[in-house]
Amino acid sequence: MMAMTLCISTGIAAKNKKKAEQPLKPMNEFVSELMSKMTVQEKIGQLNLLPSGDIQTGISENSPISESIRQGRLSAILNLKGVDHILKLQKMAVEESRLGIPLIFGMDVIHGYETIFPIPLALSCSWDIPAIEQSARIAAKEATADGLSWTYSPMVDICVDPRWGRVAEGAGEDPFLGSRIAEAMVRGYQGTPDANSQLSKVNMLACLKHYALYGASEAGRDYNTVDMSRVRMYNQYFPPYKAAIEAGVGSVMSSFNTVDYIPATANKWLLTDVLRHQWKFDGFLVTDYGAINEMMNHGLGNQQQVAALALKAGTDMDMCSEAFTATLEKSLQEGKISMDDIDQACRRVLEAKYKLGLFADPYRYCDKKRRATDIYTPEHRLAARNLAAETFVLLKNDGLLPLKKQGTIALIGPLADSKNNIPGSWAPTATYQYPTLREGMERALKGKATLLYAQGSNICRDAVLQADGSFSRTIPRGDDDQLKQQAIETARKADVIVCAMGELQEMSGECASRSNLELFDVQHELLEELLKLGKPIVLLNFAGRPTVLIWEQQHLPAILNVWFAGSETGDAICDVLFGDKSPSGKLTTSMPQNTGQIPVYYNHLNTGRPVEEGTQKFFKYQSNYLDVRNEPLYPFGYGLSYTSFEYSDITLSSHQMNADGTITASVTVKNTGSYDADEVVQLYIRDVVASISRPVKELKGFQRIHLNAGESQTVTFTITPDLLKFYDYNLNEVIEPGDFDIMIGPNSRDVKKKTLTVL
Ligand code: BGC
Repeated sequence: MMAMTLCISTGIAAKNKKKAEQPLKPMNEFVSELMSKMTVQEKIGQLNLLPSGDIQTGISENSPISESIRQGRLSAILNLKGVDHILKLQKMAVEESRLGIPLIFGMDVIHGYETIFPIPLALSCSWDIPAIEQSARIAAKEATADGLSWTYSPMVDICVDPRWGRVAEGAGEDPFLGSRIAEAMVRGYQGTPDANSQLSKVNMLACLKHYALYGASEAGRDYNTVDMSRVRMYNQYFPPYKAAIEAGVGSVMSSFNTVDYIPATANKWLLTDVLRHQWKFDGFLVTDYGAINEMMNHGLGNQQQVAALALKAGTDMDMCSEAFTATLEKSLQEGKISMDDIDQACRRVLEAKYKLGLFADPYRYCDKKRRATDIYTPEHRLAARNLAAETFVLLKNDGLLPLKKQGTIALIGPLADSKNNIPGSWAPTATYQYPTLREGMERALKGKATLLYAQGSNICRDAVLQADGSFSRTIPRGDDDQLKQQAIETARKADVIVCAMGELQEMSGECASRSNLELFDVQHELLEELLKLGKPIVLLNFAGRPTVLIWEQQHLPAILNVWFAGSETGDAICDVLFGDKSPSGKLTTSMPQNTGQIPVYYNHLNTGRPVEEGTQKFFKYQSNYLDVRNEPLYPFGYGLSYTSFEYSDITLSSHQMNADGTITASVTVKNTGSYDADEVVQLYIRDVVASISRPVKELKGFQRIHLNAGESQTVTFTITPDLLKFYDYNLNEVIEPGDFDIMIGPNSRDVKKKTLTVL
């Protein structure tokens, strides 16, 4: 009875009402009224996020989670899949807790729900912002059809160190492209809220992560120390976070690492001064998994101390530490935190629930009918297939690709037929029933060519490494020599060999750092043996990060980087391999010549002792290596096509620009080959003289265009003052008069250049 009364008086949909959404009071008023009825414990309960634990496997009625729900000590649940489970717990919260406050159900919906898109690093290589936005929209539609309302995406951490496995989850090394993708993902997930700030039922709350600088872990080792100057933070690492905030992201996740020697989760400068005051973020901030408790390991005190630090710094929700529920009441009594601190966090969480429409209808995401119509639909799968094809990066092609659908083709390699390794590392909602490359090729070649298959090798010789790197999503292990012999026998009968090699999908992603980025031993040895057959070989490289492919570049005629392309991998690879589509992906991370070159990235500073770009010699007392040149093997922005493109010189509408004016820069791009194809035209600038040292190149624009064979198009970029601004030594955003190089080209290396003077 009590729950009923309060529900009605606060406007929460009362139990058993199967009505349309209830009209609510305006958000502020509604939340204030609700909070006036809450006890301290209930308020702290709103700051508590826990994993579903046993509930996913069936036990629910009397689990600790259920008890917390009934007592109003739990606000949100993560990683519970399935509308039936979710509905049951939501009912428990609404009908059995004193105030009936609904739960939020969150999940790592990172690159699709059951229709799986390519991993985010791959997605970024499409440079196709509308399609990336659509991928998030589809993910939200599917996830909300299954009961979820909150995703822990987008991950926008800039990373220049591909030893870090989580490079797979972001958009690569560039802040400009990363920002455009961050905004697109937020728009895709959240849609456009209505006049009452509420999201629609097919949209979900996004969570920007990992704030901040997580991608700069020292030596690429996950969870490791981060230390960098604020100038670098503002210019290179912060832009994608800021862009997502400006796009209206509803929640932010703090990162595991330290920032200026204080763990992000307790860093007031980061969470309040920058996030709230400078960037005006008005959603709620959740920690990463267990991050509050981890602060004890960081050496910041006991659980009570670190929980208080986190709250006071600006953390609103505790993910899985149970540190807020365990200690905040005591800290309040002891005067270590104030009621205002708790109220502020509680209000932000309740506001998010309001925006999700959960107070109007707590079951709005629990429409059981939607599963049949909204998930893994032909339309979604087609979008995933098309986008996957755009993410593949053609690294080398001596005229071998596209392959003809004729003769005998040998498909060899440990990734060719592994269902376990199709979706990519961050797809916990995937069903793992997706077709493999082998199945895709069988379909594509049916009645036209003969397909032979052999696994060819283990992932690596070391069985322990293969097991540790697989999260039980491994491939069958066999005897190294036997596997190799079978592959050689199979390949001998073929006209052309397609090798599907690389890492297991779990060898990138969280806690999947690697210190050597070459193709693994046994796979490399197999390639050497296959080469001896004298037949043309295509390498399809499956990877969640840049791979060191120098030997392969020197010895193989064709290399297509296919990343982990999601549920439609099999068909999407065939689309490109057999020429129905021309490859158009462009790298968003530089691919190094060797692991020791890392970090190698295009937007570096010049140094006082630069060597000329492209030089093949070593220069004593200059900034270079004895044993390798400075350039990566494949630069940022690089990717070949089946056709060729010719770029004209740049035309500037004016060689001078007022600091508050604009000019345009244009090139004409011609498709000079014989395939219709897409091209990503890229604009870079260099601020030649400034008050601080500035990067040698910075991406400031890009356009993805389609040109039929023989066709030309003039591509025009508008150069605005915003594009020329940077954060100076005092962290003021400024445009400084002087010369700027304006560069346009098909990648960051092969650019045309003109000089612009800003007055
Ligand atoms: C990861 C986050 C993720 C969270 C919840 C953490 O380990 O760092 O990216 O969202 O778990 O699954």
